[in-house]
Amino acid sequence: KLMNVFVTRRIPGEGMRILSQCETCKVSLWDSDEPIPRSELLQRVSGAHGLLCLLSERIDAEVLDAAGPNLKVISTLSVGFDHLAIDEIKKRGIRVGYTPDVLTDATAELTVALLLATARRIPEGVEEVKNGGWRSWKSLWLCGYGLSGSTVGVIGLGRIGMAIARRLKPFGVEKLLYSGRTAKPQAAEVEGEFVPLDRLLSESDFIIVSCSLTPETQGLCNKAFFSKMKKTAIFINTSRGAVVNQEDLYEALSSGQIAAAGLDVTTPEPLPTDHPLLTLKNCVILPHIGSATYSTRGIMSELAANNLLAGLSGTGMPKELIL
Ligand code: GLV
Ligand code: GLV
Repeated sequence: KLMNVFVTRRIPGEGMRILSQCETCKVSLWDSDEPIPRSELLQRVSGAHGLLCLLSERIDAEVLDAAGPNLKVISTLSVGFDHLAIDEIKKRGIRVGYTPDVLTDATAELTVALLLATARRIPEGVEEVKNGGWRSWKSLWLCGYGLSGSTVGVIGLGRIGMAIARRLKPFGVEKLLYSGRTAKPQAAEVEGEFVPLDRLLSESDFIIVSCSLTPETQGLCNKAFFSKMKKTAIFINTSRGAVVNQEDLYEALSSGQIAAAGLDVTTPEPLPTDHPLLTLKNCVILPHIGSATYSTRGIMSELAANNLLAGLSGTGMPKELIL
């Protein structure tokens, strides 16, 4: 008898081809690049044995109840899993697959790009060329901050945090600080020094948030956090928007408490086009594209499909989230 698989949105062809080759599966797809409406999700998930979802779908008790007792495996096309109600999933004995490792390099690269774009004011410069603001070579015009000789602070030195640190060191970073729950032995490779958050905030010229979103990190970057940073420091977040209190960030950026911010993640996503942060020249915002290279998204799609099929057949998943 066939097992029902529901895919909540179009995913790269690599993964769909793998799913379509499963002879024991009946695959159905929300065939759109737009998010599935919640009511539609609740209907379509009914009777599913396997669910392949994106990070934009909140999978909570309501969805799990709507799916019913068949549901054995959830596979998310992401490394982050804050959109999944893990306690509810665990209670029901459902297995979870995700996509760590394969997106580490792409996300670290994007973080470096965003850091340089923010620190060297690249979007502002591009805009000035287009709008006629470029009238002569002026000695202090569009000056920013460089990495050479700087202190970089990484909050959350996990897989991606390490990959960012490795890439930044060759720019001439003098000191690499990191904070988090525990000291990491692998930090030795980048000469990272484990320090209390307060020290990281007061000493760093660049602060990069690369931790996962948990109850402990939700709203971590708030008024008190920004007030401990140097006035010349740059804040970068490529993890999850909810780690930041955006009102406090707006205040810190508009009052000159900190120099600039680069964000690849916001709350909500998408950020409404009339959001106050978008009025600030010293805030560079990207639409959550950390892992967005063709090859990475293809590999993520493949991995998510293989996780799902392994979960359905009760064998070891290539990348299972241990609950
Ligand atoms: C991206 O944010 C991911 O979690 O994969
Ligand atoms: C800049 O273009 C310089 O020549 O200093």
